[in-house]
Amino acid sequence: MDNLKEEIQKEENSDFSGNYIEKFQDKNAEEFFAGSLVSWEKQENSFLFHGEKASLQITVVSPDILKFRHGNEGYFDDDFSYAIDPSFSADQTDYKFEDLKTTFVIKTNVLKCYISKTNLATKITTLEGTSVLEDEKGYHWQDHKHYGGTINICTKVLHAGEKFYGLGDKTGRLNLIGTKRELWGTDCYGYGNETDPVYKNIPFYMGQHSQIGYGIFMDNTFRSFFDFGKERTTVCSFWAQGGEMRYYYIHGPKLIDVARKYALLTGRPQLPPKWALGYHQSKWSYYPESVVRKLGEEFRSRKIPCDVIHLDIDYMDGFRCFTWDNKKFPDPAKMIADLKEQGFKTVVIIDPGIKIDKNYDVYKQGIAGQHFCQRMDGDLLKASVWPGLCHFPDFTKAATREWWTTLFEGLMNDGVDGVWNDMNEPATFEDGTFPNDVRHDFDGHPGSHRKGHNVYGSLMAQATCAGQKKYMEGKRPFTISRSAYAGVQRHASVWTGDNMATWEHLKLANIQCQRLAASGVSFAGSDVGGFIGSPDGELYTRWIQMAVFHPFFRTHSSGDHGDKEPWKFDQQYVNIVRQFIEMRYEWLPYIYSVFYVHTHTGTPMIRSLHLEGHIDPETFFREEEFFLGHHVMICPVSEPGKSTRRMYLTAGQWYNYWTDQLIDGGLEITVDTPLHQIPIFVRQGAIIPKQPKMQYVDEFVFDELTLECYKPFELTHSTVYEDSGDGYDYLSTEGHVLKSFDSDFVLDTWIITQSAEGSYESTYQSYALRLHGLHQLPAQLLVDNEDHLAQAKYENGVVILYVKKDFKKIEIK
Ligand code: NOJ
Repeated sequence: MDNLKEEIQKEENSDFSGNYIEKFQDKNAEEFFAGSLVSWEKQENSFLFHGEKASLQITVVSPDILKFRHGNEGYFDDDFSYAIDPSFSADQTDYKFEDLKTTFVIKTNVLKCYISKTNLATKITTLEGTSVLEDEKGYHWQDHKHYGGTINICTKVLHAGEKFYGLGDKTGRLNLIGTKRELWGTDCYGYGNETDPVYKNIPFYMGQHSQIGYGIFMDNTFRSFFDFGKERTTVCSFWAQGGEMRYYYIHGPKLIDVARKYALLTGRPQLPPKWALGYHQSKWSYYPESVVRKLGEEFRSRKIPCDVIHLDIDYMDGFRCFTWDNKKFPDPAKMIADLKEQGFKTVVIIDPGIKIDKNYDVYKQGIAGQHFCQRMDGDLLKASVWPGLCHFPDFTKAATREWWTTLFEGLMNDGVDGVWNDMNEPATFEDGTFPNDVRHDFDGHPGSHRKGHNVYGSLMAQATCAGQKKYMEGKRPFTISRSAYAGVQRHASVWTGDNMATWEHLKLANIQCQRLAASGVSFAGSDVGGFIGSPDGELYTRWIQMAVFHPFFRTHSSGDHGDKEPWKFDQQYVNIVRQFIEMRYEWLPYIYSVFYVHTHTGTPMIRSLHLEGHIDPETFFREEEFFLGHHVMICPVSEPGKSTRRMYLTAGQWYNYWTDQLIDGGLEITVDTPLHQIPIFVRQGAIIPKQPKMQYVDEFVFDELTLECYKPFELTHSTVYEDSGDGYDYLSTEGHVLKSFDSDFVLDTWIITQSAEGSYESTYQSYALRLHGLHQLPAQLLVDNEDHLAQAKYENGVVILYVKKDFKKIEIK
């Protein structure tokens, strides 16, 4: 034990608040196991197995999701979760239970789960008997002598060739094999590839071996750890420093289905306002008002599209949340209204720290309502952030979240359109975060900061989102959060925090956004160009080119390292950056449709190759290529001076977006990457909806929606989703339309059919069909059985035809 202490002391070089020692399991500590079966019982869809020292409850949530709870000495915690979507409803499940000689078996229509009577160890197999997840030591616990609690641990067999993905915003390689990761939300300014923990806490990972993918979601908010074969190469383990060991097993077999089912379990976002998918410009900070106005004018006069301007902490009066600095912003409502006239939305930052100031209304309300976090002995927690000494709301208390919602009335009445939550790990200047003894209500399941820390940011975002909604008169809220626990996607988008202006960070942003999307949080982005440091024109351009395909698209910078407005770079870069931001707007109908599919099915918007490629070994270690939706593959350029790059194209036929060259996938290729292009490939058969370039979302009503139709080799399905882009009318049949296109090649005819669900009337009148993959005008072109060949033209390798928007069938021969 003394050696262990020394080792840790050396590594941490800090013993503040006693946190450091808990980072480690004590290898010498006694371990406790469930022991052999004493009795068992059935309760609805659950089975309760009592061992000599611990109990195990297994619930059949659905045929492909099992929930495991371990109760030490037979005691379980309240079954309370901030992560599980309250509206989650499982598929009706039919299963069989068998009591065999040495084991029990639960059998659903996709898996079998064996429970050993000797030691309550479990093993999950496919119906055919392939072992997917089996206990090594299995569940056990150690008493933690330093804080008088337990560390609850699960160890599983790591299968030969197993790959691991997920865990939120973790840095480093996409495949987590051979690494150990910690979840303890941390303000990690200028983090790097090796930094861990980082901002978010999403205890969900996916494993894949033997062509079968599965997921584990450990629903535990305590400081936790995941080891993917680092300590012992044949073992994968996860543990938490307190709280019940409660985890969900999610069966694929495809990884993309695991990600989808996890998103259903922990919740999907509602559709954001469409403008939130436009381009955002931010800096720490734009002020005073004249600078903000000038910023807007620059965008419009330079014809660089932009929808959103972010105001960082300097808009406030002495960093007091929910106030304006009236010298810098004498009439915020007027400024915001004028910006709106020019097509800009305003997003403001709100931090959790409330300045201790007797003349500050929010402070007074917080004290009167007992909303601030207390230390164990009853004193209010004090710690410094931007405004100096602050108190901090206990967002784990329902009444405090409700109070927080009321604070948004002023900002929303001023016309603010969205709110950006920062520093909510929670971060403090002195010691990084709150001391462990701080008390949290945890919605009636009180605990210390050990239990509240990892969920604090998510709950702040939840209250912030609710606060906006309350005063927005039926408009859709837009919230961004830096910290998060599982399920944050129901309330907020996220960004990857204080990154740096380096090529390594461009790569890292790519990996983090893919990982977040696989972990339920599709609406994510990075500070384009890097928060810290100054990118050169090439790095900024390459980053913009990637971020066009990230759901949240914002340039942000720390301000003191030079400005990062697009026009601050040499003209050759400005032109390309403009083209790519324009492209974002042209592609919005596709991006919005992909967002809709995500909200509807849970399927991630951004997909790593292994999610789509599944059993192709080439995809397992690929981390730069990614999909946006099912039909488009992108590969950013992540090194300077590269006029070509190597990349892997997954199986199937793909069209090079820039040249229309058709390539058979399933191989590594070299693609030209002049500064004005990055590799973009479109799947055969895809129909990609596009709109005209705009300076901001809904700048004008256009007459035609362009459908880029790529000649199919097999039946390919595409969807176009439309609604008014804000408000909640879309929830009714009249308020939305989901257009489905099937594109197929039958005998010698290319057939495109259209059907629709919902009766929202699209604002445009017709489609401009652009048919790719034909090398001349076809011999025959029928639209709903009528000859339209005379109206078609062949231009630059594409056949163009204008058709009415309600066509049913097009035949091209
Ligand atoms: C830290 C955030 O990560 C950053 O984006 C922000 O600009 C600063 N805080 C100042 O608010």
